[in-house]
Amino acid sequence: MKIVAFRPEHAVPIASMCNSEGWDFWTDVADVEHALVAPGVTTLVAVDEGEVVGAAEVISDGGINWVLGVLIVSSARRGEGIGTALIREAFTRTGALRLDLLTENESPSFYRSLPGREMAGFRLYPPES
Ligand SMILES: CC(C)(COP(=O)(O)OP(=O)(O)OC[C@H]1O[C@@H](n2cnc3c(N)ncnc32)[C@H](O)[C@@H]1OP(=O)(O)O)[C@@H](O)C(=O)NCCC(=O)NCCS
Repeated sequence: MKIVAFRPEHAVPIASMCNSEGWDFWTDVADVEHALVAPGVTTLVAVDEGEVVGAAEVISDGGINWVLGVLIVSSARRGEGIGTALIREAFTRTGALRLDLLTENESPSFYRSLPGREMAGFRLYPPES
């Protein structure tokens, strides 16, 4: 398994993994590709024998905030250390001093296995017009 910088051909398998989780906003592959190369975004992809098995997206202003936008490992490959390797590589390649994230479902146990601290999180929506 190696971790590489995102390339356009990774968009379809990443979108597919995220859609399998039932996540919003991952159905349009062109949108996914656009987002994962946007300014301030670093997207890393775990590839094993040519197959995409995971991905991490870090969104940053380059000096104050680093946000983990996405972390996903293919369902068949979980528990092998790929998620941990993606986080480690995300710190190395972005120079992040910290990584903030929102999480739900079973993944808090994963994040508790890493150095860090738990904080409250919110997702805000636009005001109703
Ligand atoms: C969360 C996720 C990225 C973890 O990736 P992974 O490659 O399976 O994680 P690792 O193999 O590196 O696991 C690291 C540690 O966390 C634990 N862990 C991982 N996922 C876990 C889970 N769902 N529940 C409990 N513990 C978990 C592992 O047991 C391991 O502990 P250990 O080192 O004591 O053995 C992966 O399960 C996933 O893609 N889940 C669905 C998407 C998701 O929830 N993403 C995060 C939302 S922000």
